[in-house]
Amino acid sequence: MQNISTNIDEALALLRAGELVGIPTETVYGLAADAARPEAVAKIFTMKGRPADHPVIVHLAGKDQLSDWARDIPDSAWKLAEAFWPGSLTLILQRQPQVPDAVTGGQDTVGLRAPAHPLTHELLRRFGGGLAAPSANQFGHVSPTTAQHVYAEFGERLPLILDGGPCLVGVESTIVGLTGDFPTLLRPGGVPREAIEDVLGITLVHHEKPAEAKLRVSGLLDSHYAPRTPLYMGGLRRLEDEAYRHLEQGKRVAILHRSPLAGGVCGLESHQMPDEPEAFARDLYATLRVFDEGRHFDFLLLETPPQTPAWLAVNDRVKRAAVGILT
Ligand code: TXA
Ligand code: MG
Repeated sequence: MQNISTNIDEALALLRAGELVGIPTETVYGLAADAARPEAVAKIFTMKGRPADHPVIVHLAGKDQLSDWARDIPDSAWKLAEAFWPGSLTLILQRQPQVPDAVTGGQDTVGLRAPAHPLTHELLRRFGGGLAAPSANQFGHVSPTTAQHVYAEFGERLPLILDGGPCLVGVESTIVGLTGDFPTLLRPGGVPREAIEDVLGITLVHHEKPAEAKLRVSGLLDSHYAPRTPLYMGGLRRLEDEAYRHLEQGKRVAILHRSPLAGGVCGLESHQMPDEPEAFARDLYATLRVFDEGRHFDFLLLETPPQTPAWLAVNDRVKRAAVGILT
């Protein structure tokens, strides 16, 4: 792992030369390039195997740079940036005309966020410009929450991975769209929906369709945030029954649970997940990676998290990671 380091000078030199750098943020690690250079941004898509029409978030040092990238900025954007930046909130705004199509996927809008991780904040402050960065994983795979996870995705193909330790939030930023008639929650994430609604004094519009639609169509594995080992969710008793049945048939199964397991049956691998939504979010992707590694299991079973507002971001991610729900 020759390319993992904490050297900001080296990261700056590479980014200024149009190269890619893995960067820590408080949510997940990003795969960063100079957002002003289309040829640098293009390398992100090649490395990730990501369709070129997917827009990427531009990371900034702070709200002073908002108007370099966005125009017709509504009051709501300034309020949210004031309240949550640096932090886990991405704002979708009308783009300035010079923002490259490579960043916006050819759309009129741009996603902007000032991450809170101190190493990357310092990097952005010294860089001065914006860094285009999606999560540093192969397209559709589980997002990385350590420098070693980024290495596991891209190895030595990436010139440098800045090591900022494990991510404290563990799921991606909350995305709020501010270009329509009403502020819209486009992706639940690190900043709770209620905190945003408190600042704006309104209820966010939220359409939960995509992940749910996937679950109803069995066999359609539109995997996103997903381990390579098939993951099923359900109530714990249902999962235990399923696990024992498959163990008897010689299958290798692991249960990731929050509630206590009913019985100690030999051969069943299990892992206790945190009982509290922030801690659960922080551990989720790392745990999925551990159980996915080496494909030791035929499938993974995850106890469905509580369906309360505090678990919104976690539920969004686990639904996308799962291939189905056992009912
Ligand atoms: O926490 C995060 O947001 C992490 C870290 C690295 O900052 N980044 C991240 O990036 O999750 P990515 O590319 O994996 O997801 C970005 C999401 C995508 O779903 C993309 O469609 C959306 O942001 N997005 C970016 N720009 C957009 C735009 N102009 N309009 C609508 N959606 C946009
Ligand atoms: Mg991603």
